[in-house]
Amino acid sequence: MPIRVWDYLDEYRDNRDAILEAVDRVFRSGQLILGPQVRAFETEFATYCGVSHGIGVDNGTNALMLGLKALGVAPGSEVITVPNTAVPTVSAIVAAGGVPRFVDIDPDSYVMDVSLLADALTEKTACILPVHLFGQCVPMSALSPIAASRGIPVLEDCSQSHGATHDGRTCGSMSDLAAFSLYPTKVLGAYGDGGIVVTNRDDLDAGMRRLRFYGMDSGDRGTGQAQAYGAVEHGYNSRLDEVQAAILLVKLAHLDTDIARRQAIARRYEQALGATSLVLPRTLPGNTHVYYLYVCRHPERDRILSEMARRDVLLNVSYPTPIHLMPAYQEYGYREGDFPESERAAREIFSLPMYPSLTEAQQDAVCRALGEVLAEDVWI
Ligand SMILES: Cc1ncc(COP(=O)(O)O)c(C=O)c1O
Repeated sequence: MPIRVWDYLDEYRDNRDAILEAVDRVFRSGQLILGPQVRAFETEFATYCGVSHGIGVDNGTNALMLGLKALGVAPGSEVITVPNTAVPTVSAIVAAGGVPRFVDIDPDSYVMDVSLLADALTEKTACILPVHLFGQCVPMSALSPIAASRGIPVLEDCSQSHGATHDGRTCGSMSDLAAFSLYPTKVLGAYGDGGIVVTNRDDLDAGMRRLRFYGMDSGDRGTGQAQAYGAVEHGYNSRLDEVQAAILLVKLAHLDTDIARRQAIARRYEQALGATSLVLPRTLPGNTHVYYLYVCRHPERDRILSEMARRDVLLNVSYPTPIHLMPAYQEYGYREGDFPESERAAREIFSLPMYPSLTEAQQDAVCRALGEVLAEDVWI
């Protein structure tokens, strides 16, 4: 059996009874949409993040897109983010009517280089969208004062960093509004698509609830019944499923244990690979890292990937092409050389298998194979 970069089958085997029981409870409840499971998950996840409101949505892309709309991003206004992120960070900006503007990354952590942010702001900047990438946060203690001094709202993309902290604050609690994907591979993942937005602001809570439910004020009082039919504003259908919420509640109960397992795997990789020529992940001062991905760097990345695949270890690259160089985003006028650190990372980074149920034997097999491919010593 090849070792894959992500797998959930062992986790499912361990939690099967609890998950099937949760799903059965939903099916027997008579309430399939916006019922008690979604409500409970919204409340528990918001509490986990240290904020007062959670609004379940259908995926992370729509969490971002609706979040930008709730923040009032008007057509043609600019939203600042980074070019080395998942495509949906940027497709959500465009879907909300915004114009993506990029700043380069810090080469050690791969997150936004906040020292470049002030120069990227213009009178058209309507929102700053930091991406907490690979499992650690953008240094928000440096970013937030820049945004606050200009009165620009901040929307965190937390899709890759559930539970990560910066200066003692949990990812999702450091801005006006924060969006999470709950896609199956994520640190907290559903068994299908899902997303959630969290906020401390009552106005954004109400706005998000309308936007995800056809622009209506009603239909979201835990009853699943629309109580008054009428759109207050133009809205969408972007609801989190009751079934997925029930599964997420099961998984949320052991999120911290899952994160601790990821951190233990990272420590083991570091012990084994610390003396090789691979550049291993670095955690920024003030951050805890939850290792959504274990991202290494090496100039011979492509050779390493193909030789590891021959040894049945399937590695992954997130992301091989920075967004500003993708055909879909050429209209924004960027070209090669504009973001040198993002472009270099795209050529050199790759991730090792990382998920809570990855066994020590699998971890050792990954490290041994890397030792062979690099022709260097590993410590197992
Ligand atoms: C950084 C980032 N933003 C947004 C998303 C979009 O999430 P989803 O796939 O749930 O729409 C993802 C996940 O793919 C992501 O990794």
